[in-house]
Amino acid sequence: MEEQSVYNLVGGDPAFQQLVDVFYAKVERDPHLRAIFPENLEPGKRWQFLFLTQFFGGPARYQVERGHPRLRMRHMPFPIDQAVRDHWLQHMFDAIDEVGIVDPARAEMRGYFERGSTFMINAEPAAENILHWQPPKDLQP
Ligand code: HEM
Repeated sequence: MEEQSVYNLVGGDPAFQQLVDVFYAKVERDPHLRAIFPENLEPGKRWQFLFLTQFFGGPARYQVERGHPRLRMRHMPFPIDQAVRDHWLQHMFDAIDEVGIVDPARAEMRGYFERGSTFMINAEPAAENILHWQPPKDLQP
């Protein structure tokens, strides 16, 4: 049997529209992420939708409107450290489940988001986290 794209497996645009809506609602409520995202979330939501549908096998709309994704470069203006990445990924994982996306699409999407979000890290941990760092109890004098 021919292998199905994730886009077809989840039923196309509606599932991705829900995914982006649910994910962005979480971003809006998470202070770690809200501070990094721009004031107006709407343009980013639309690009996210067009990119994800294209990436997972739907129509090439992102390409037509926006050109080559160059995602790492497009994320450079936003300081993304490990902690911010972890928040982002947790919200995306939760959104996948809330939308009701099941295997095999679920596993494929989780794998991509896990690797992709790590690739987007472009900053060291915030200085305050280093200043307040404490050695583990068993290593303290
Ligand atoms: C696989 C992982 C990721 C994918 C596929 C992804 C995808 C995208 C896409 C398609 C855009 C819009 C690009 C454009 O302007 O054309 C975007 C913007 C953005 N992403 Fe990501 N991203 C990922 C990881 C992350 C992570 C870990 C963060 C951490 C906070 C993040 C934060 C942002 C921000 C702040 C924007 C700008 C939004 C805006 O301009 O409104 N992304 N991302």
